[in-house]
Amino acid sequence: MSEHKNTAPAVGAAQGGNKTINNLKIPQNEGFVKDRNINLISLNLQNFRGCKHYNMAFGCKRASIYGANGAGKSTLADGYTWLLTGKDQQGRSDYEILPVGSTEGIESSVTASFSNFENKDQFTLHRVYKPVFTRKRGESEKHRTGNTTDYYINDVPYKAGDYSKFIEEHIGTEEDILTVSRVDYFAQVMKPDARRQKLLDLFANGVDDQSVISNHSELASLGELLGTYTMDDCVKRWKAQRRKVNEDKDAIPGRIDEAERAKPDIESIETDSARLPKLAAERLKIRSKIDSMRSGESAAGIRKEISRLQADAEQARADYIRKSSGDNTALESQISVLRKDLSDLQAKAAKSESSASSEATLAAELKKEIEELRQKAFAEHDKEFDAGNGKCPTCGQPYPPEMLEEMRGNFNAEKAENLTNLSTHGKELKSTYNELKKQVQFDSTAAKEAQFNADHLQQKLLGLQKMFVTPPAWETTPAYADFQKQIADAKHSLEVISSASDKQVQTLQADLTSIDSEINAIQQRKSNLELIKRQDARIEELKAQEKKLGNQLAQLDNLLYLADRFVQLKASDVEAEVNESFHSVRWKLFEMQVNGGVKACCEAQVNEKDYGSLSNAEKVNAGLDIVNTLGQKMGLILPVWIDNAESISHPMEISAQIINLYVSDQDQQLRTEIER
Ligand SMILES: Nc1ncnc2c1ncn2[C@@H]1O[C@H](COP(=O)(O)OP(=O)(O)OP(=O)(O)O)[C@@H](O)[C@H]1O
Ligand SMILES: [Mg+2]
Repeated sequence: MSEHKNTAPAVGAAQGGNKTINNLKIPQNEGFVKDRNINLISLNLQNFRGCKHYNMAFGCKRASIYGANGAGKSTLADGYTWLLTGKDQQGRSDYEILPVGSTEGIESSVTASFSNFENKDQFTLHRVYKPVFTRKRGESEKHRTGNTTDYYINDVPYKAGDYSKFIEEHIGTEEDILTVSRVDYFAQVMKPDARRQKLLDLFANGVDDQSVISNHSELASLGELLGTYTMDDCVKRWKAQRRKVNEDKDAIPGRIDEAERAKPDIESIETDSARLPKLAAERLKIRSKIDSMRSGESAAGIRKEISRLQADAEQARADYIRKSSGDNTALESQISVLRKDLSDLQAKAAKSESSASSEATLAAELKKEIEELRQKAFAEHDKEFDAGNGKCPTCGQPYPPEMLEEMRGNFNAEKAENLTNLSTHGKELKSTYNELKKQVQFDSTAAKEAQFNADHLQQKLLGLQKMFVTPPAWETTPAYADFQKQIADAKHSLEVISSASDKQVQTLQADLTSIDSEINAIQQRKSNLELIKRQDARIEELKAQEKKLGNQLAQLDNLLYLADRFVQLKASDVEAEVNESFHSVRWKLFEMQVNGGVKACCEAQVNEKDYGSLSNAEKVNAGLDIVNTLGQKMGLILPVWIDNAESISHPMEISAQIINLYVSDQDQQLRTEIER
């Protein structure tokens, strides 16, 4: 643990360095200019700052340019740089190019011809800086209001973008140009990060994680762990794992404590194991007692009786309903017979009455007729022969007396006959009348008799019909009430018996409850014991886990320590790889920190002295070494301008075309010597 605390920050620092190391890109050589060895054929400056005119054919040779202070040596280098980058040697793009006080029509221009690999590829660049003069309204003189720049490649005008693109394609990027043509640029001007990256890109491509591991036996165990991961990814993984393992390990004491606290208090349980079977047996006994009480015989008998009574009552009800409907059927047939008889009697009474009535009418008529006959007979009897005036009514002649006698005789004979006829007829009528009277009597008596009988039947029918009513509901019958009473009595008896046994059951139930609670208490104690066992097992498990996590932590700490070592060793491998190519310069790419970490940096050193503390000549020589080595590696050799070359007694030999600028008091005008 304490070991980790000491190493953890180192890993953090290492990671910073490591990140940088692992950010090493495999050099993409397509990005670098390859095999360009460019020399200056000629240089021409017109009205460029203090230089009115300079024209020199270098012919790809080294040259030395001499001049007193202020003669314009540095201006030539500036003009050259401006032609290629649009900036001066100090990287300024906004400085005044035109000669001081120049008027309208004066243009600054630089022209240079280049050759790549001894004239195989030649081109001329020409850049012209033109001031713009305009006259504002109301002013008599023109004033400079701006400037324009024209670009030419091989005398052909180009747009700025195309001109820059041409330079990039045929020479290099601005940074590459400055890197290999200015001795101070890479070590001094370029930003350390970019510088470092460039060095790593160019020189450290052979140093990958696997090669570092195989170069150092102490890192051997990392080899198999690395797999397809980078070391940086491995460190991230191990750190995450370590954090997790540490968290898990830290959590364990709390979990053990929790398990301890979860253990119940242990009570005495010595007698429990013997007591439990006894209690169980007792319980069983009470239970079966309760069961038998609940299913007691007397209660069962009464229940049976109740069931029987209920069944009987149901049967009685069914019988009652059936019987009631049977009685009605008999009544119906009786009533039907009576109705028929009644109807016959009523018909008979009506018929007799009707006969009696018509016979009575007939008798009354006969009586009247008889009376008339009697009157007729009286009238006949009283009739006298009337000879009238004795004359014939027809002829008016008086009847002869014989005739009168005859007529008398006739009259008397007719009278007698008439009287006889009347009497006979009267007797017949009387006889018929008497018959009729008898018949009337007979029929009337028959009608009355029939009516009497009919009335009697009617009464009987009504009596039967009264009987033919819906029978009273079963529930209203005494039989029903009887059954109900019997059932209620039986139920009451059952209740009496049940409540008596319920009391006994209650007592037994209470005993059962007390036994149950004792059993529960024993079981609880047993389960507590189980719980304690489980918790103890859990605690043991947690302790084992804590130990395992401790081991894991130690392993991870070891891995992280190795990762630290890896970073350090990779740093020194990378440095060695980079520095191998340089002549005098040593690049310090990593700073070992007090905590053992490695910090990325990028400082040039010569004989263990930092670049900043070198003398001017030492700086120039270091710059020459850098320009030369980088140029070779990048495949881009450009003319190198060395200002104040008089201050360097032993400049380093390099393969590029060198243009030395010497201060020379006797040369008020620039003097150029081309190497033969
Ligand atoms: N825009 C400008 N117009 C006119 N003259 C300028 C302009 N800018 C700079 N000068 C002058 O041009 C002269 C040449 O300067 P330059 O730096 O090239 O001289 P040098 O030969 O390098 O001198 P030293 O030996 O001191 O380095 C200087 O006198 C400088 O003041
Ligand atoms: Mg100068």
